[in-house]
Amino acid sequence: MPHRNLHSNAQPMNVAVIGTGYVGLGTAALLAHIGHTVTGIDISEEKIAMLQRAEVPIHEPGLDDLLASVQSRLTWTTRYDAVASADVVFICVGTPPGPDGTPDLQYVVSAAASIAPHLNGHTQVIVNKSTVPIGTGDYVTRLLEEHSVTFSAERHAVVSNPEFLREGTALHDSLYPDRIVLGGTPEAVAHMTRLYAPLIEQTFVAPASAPRPEAYTRPAVVKTTLQSAEMIKYAANAFLALKISFANEIAGLSERVGADIEEVMTGIGMDTRIGSRFLNAGLGWGGSCFGKDTQGLISAGREHNYDMPILQAAVTVNYRQRQDVLQKLIRQLRTLKGKRIGMLGMAFKPDTDDLRDAPAHDLIERLHALGATVVAHDPVAMPRASREWAHLTYQEAGSIEEAFDRADAVIVATEWTDYRTLDWNALTPRMRRPLIIDARNIIRDPIDAQVEQIGRDAPTADPITAEQITMDTSL
Ligand code: UDX
Repeated sequence: MPHRNLHSNAQPMNVAVIGTGYVGLGTAALLAHIGHTVTGIDISEEKIAMLQRAEVPIHEPGLDDLLASVQSRLTWTTRYDAVASADVVFICVGTPPGPDGTPDLQYVVSAAASIAPHLNGHTQVIVNKSTVPIGTGDYVTRLLEEHSVTFSAERHAVVSNPEFLREGTALHDSLYPDRIVLGGTPEAVAHMTRLYAPLIEQTFVAPASAPRPEAYTRPAVVKTTLQSAEMIKYAANAFLALKISFANEIAGLSERVGADIEEVMTGIGMDTRIGSRFLNAGLGWGGSCFGKDTQGLISAGREHNYDMPILQAAVTVNYRQRQDVLQKLIRQLRTLKGKRIGMLGMAFKPDTDDLRDAPAHDLIERLHALGATVVAHDPVAMPRASREWAHLTYQEAGSIEEAFDRADAVIVATEWTDYRTLDWNALTPRMRRPLIIDARNIIRDPIDAQVEQIGRDAPTADPITAEQITMDTSL
């Protein structure tokens, strides 16, 4: 059996993880890696069958290797029996947005109802890791109480332990987090700090696929009430989302007054009060969290008759960004009827095959509606798109070159490394008209094509150098 990674004071625990999506799989892999015995439970027989065959249903760099390295401590099943011997039960099921933006809790409710009959007479902590509306921790407690004859408030407690991992860097984010947030009673939180001891003290051996960053020491542990922990998750995502929308709003004005958004954001990001991350202007945010969580907060506000104009504006700016990119294209091509448009990138961001709320989806839909033929490429998300985007009309590009062939324009929708490192000058001669709408600002040097970027003039033959900027400002 591989090294358990537990330090001398830590006891291996039995853990059940309900849900095998991005959060559940990452949680299961992390807990097994730090020495615990984990049972992953999902109602999807198809997903469980894949995991039992050691196939990973999602694309997440390094996850397959990590899961393979801890397989002796991992079991996959569709049955909830393992809850009976679990010290900790994680709820990691989906909470998709309902029609009014409120998260749909049906999977959380059925997970709680399925956990309840298996609760035992020992101390067991049930952890909400799914992003759930504030107050759901108490609701889950009530559901457990209702559906279980063995439930006791002394032994069974619900903790909120929000997940902050980003898709694409999930392993790194879960092994070396900035902070671990634990909301609940002091006893339940203490139980969780025992579970996470190897992570908190960083006593585990770093896996080859996610080496420990040199400057990293250990995560902060933030102990709060249930409600505060639930709010922290929403507030963190909402703040990141509005940081991006702020950059995009300033980008729009920068274009109009001749400023360069990259320079502007570098200039403001160096103020440590602001910070340089999540200030990249482009097509705006997508994915499963930012859109859902901003809407979730807004609808929570609505329930309490409380307006949230800052968040509302962040959402508006985000989706306007997709429209603005189309406008740039229309300004250049005048009409899109009969035009062939290459699309580089379909996933909502690089290093994932996740297509949820991907800007490319809306672009493809609009371009088709306006009469264009879209030829789309993605290094990993194309097979998934052919299933999940069957309602869209587009052609799959068999290669990056095909997205350029006879195209009237190419749009960069996702900043995959494969695209950052393209030899543009070798590709643009394949186009009918060399026009690149670089909606992720990845082109750094001048190329033999007209390039439209977000919030900046495209790189010119004579770009301003960092030295020149320094010199100019010192005058
Ligand atoms: C996010 C949060 O970062 C994470 O903490 C939370 O747990 C889940 O939601 P994720 O959705 O995986 O993670 O991706 P993230 O890297 O945060 O990017 C979100 C979106 O913002 C992407 O569409 C990305 O392209 C966009 N983005 C990000 C920008 O447009 N500009 C930026 O500067 C950063």
